[in-house]
Amino acid sequence: MPHLWSHFVTQVPAIELIGIDKKFGPVHANKNINLTVAKGSIHGIIGENGAGKSTLMSILYGFYQADSGEIRINGKPVQIKDSQTAISAGIGMVHQHFMLVENFTVLENIILGAEGGALLGKGVAHAHAELKRLEDDYGLEVDPDAVIEELPVGLQQRVEILKAMYRGAEILILDEPTGVLTPSEADHLFKILGVLRDQGKTVILITHKLREIMAITDTVSVMRRGEMVATRTTKETSVEELAELMVGRRVLLRVEKGEAKPGDVVLSVRNLSVKDNRGVTMVDNVSFDVRAGEIVGIAGVAGNGQSELLEALSGIRQPSAGEILIDGQPIGKASPARLRELGLAHIPEDRHHMGLVLKFEEYENSVLGYHRDPKYGRGMMLDLDAMKRDAVEKIEKYDIRPPNPRLKTANFSGGNQQKIVVAREIERDPRILLIGQPTRGVDIGAIEFIHKRIIDMRDQGKALLLVSVELDEIRALSDRILVMFAGHVVGEKSTDASEQTLGLMMAGIAA
Ligand SMILES: Nc1ncnc2c1ncn2[C@@H]1O[C@H](COP(=O)(O)OP(=O)(O)OP(=O)(O)O)[C@@H](O)[C@H]1O
Ligand SMILES: [Mg+2]
Repeated sequence: MPHLWSHFVTQVPAIELIGIDKKFGPVHANKNINLTVAKGSIHGIIGENGAGKSTLMSILYGFYQADSGEIRINGKPVQIKDSQTAISAGIGMVHQHFMLVENFTVLENIILGAEGGALLGKGVAHAHAELKRLEDDYGLEVDPDAVIEELPVGLQQRVEILKAMYRGAEILILDEPTGVLTPSEADHLFKILGVLRDQGKTVILITHKLREIMAITDTVSVMRRGEMVATRTTKETSVEELAELMVGRRVLLRVEKGEAKPGDVVLSVRNLSVKDNRGVTMVDNVSFDVRAGEIVGIAGVAGNGQSELLEALSGIRQPSAGEILIDGQPIGKASPARLRELGLAHIPEDRHHMGLVLKFEEYENSVLGYHRDPKYGRGMMLDLDAMKRDAVEKIEKYDIRPPNPRLKTANFSGGNQQKIVVAREIERDPRILLIGQPTRGVDIGAIEFIHKRIIDMRDQGKALLLVSVELDEIRALSDRILVMFAGHVVGEKSTDASEQTLGLMMAGIAA
């Protein structure tokens, strides 16, 4: 009865990382990491910003080389010296920032660089057939002839997954894949990952959202300060336990706040319309007020005009109609710099395009836009020491890691980059703060901290406008909620409105 043996022979794991170690100068990003992932499972990796998650996966994908340690795939030791080797070993990765060629079609992007390569290689017909098969097998529907830049992010991400599957990936790594997705896109992604698992593929998922970990993973590992500190079977753990393992202390998953005491109207928007770069009206005749001492939340599915609204309010984009008033005075065509002088600060949604210059050192970004302040020198003479001292204070207060104001900003982890922007804008002590997606990519300990700071600002009498696609965040922080759909404010609700009510309004179904 030979099959009895199978009870005693454990299946060879898909992935084994043994003693992986990696330093970037003085930063010990991965310390002697051991990790085993079973074939045909979904394994989550969580940890604070800068814990070393992306580094570890970049080593597995051949983007970085470990200083020491071993990688085994299906039990066999492999040297993954670049992404090409990783792909040959059956490993695919979907990056946080997509690596697609924007003006190519889906099909062109998928064939590009694949085995047998160029369009002429195996032939377009073959690729079409192969795509059709992937679509049928995994529910990965996309129009092969669509041009990438015209697809919503959710579909662009699907193209990244298709690209990996087309190259024969047996192991798929996703680094914070849901940060840019709408809730329904995220649900669809999880369905696809479930199908991949059922077909025997192995998935590694990095995320800060513990609800996602609980919903779709089989096992989960926790990293802290470069170390792998725990691995759990998902069914046997809880959000609370994971939060504590990550941060090393108990975390408030929802910050406490008292009653708001709104004062005078500080910021007003009157019949405002705003067009996007293509000339499409994205904000359509919107009016509202924000008072001192209150947080007005704007809920909505991404792409319903919130981004253009924030851009108009911060002076980055000129409205096509209507007015914006500060203290009752129309701001006209005030520049962002002039608005900063009037006491308006802005945490932009997209830190890479608007919040930071990645090639600058941390301390430079820490005063970006405010470097003309007399605090940092006069005229052409910048007082670099004053800037650095100021940066160090923010680094300590916001726990930005590593605590090095001279490090190039690109070399901070995603969540720490976000903290640099948040610290700069909040510490400016503005009267009006526009906040776009303040905690995207930020770990739960830092979310707690940022949320507390936002509520402190309210209690000090500042006027705050919060735009977030995270309904939980809107409900936890706002004193009033405006829902945006298709460029309109479709209604106002108090914060005790249910998730369902708000969800229906966001989908344009109920007002
Ligand atoms: N190319 C690099 N040069 C210097 N330091 C780096 C580089 N890449 C990463 N680091 C550092 O290594 C550490 C781990 O970073 P990593 O990006 O792996 O964190 P992470 O866990 O993915 O964080 P996040 O949740 O914020 O994305 C951080 O301190 C980071 O600043
Ligand atoms: Mg990362």
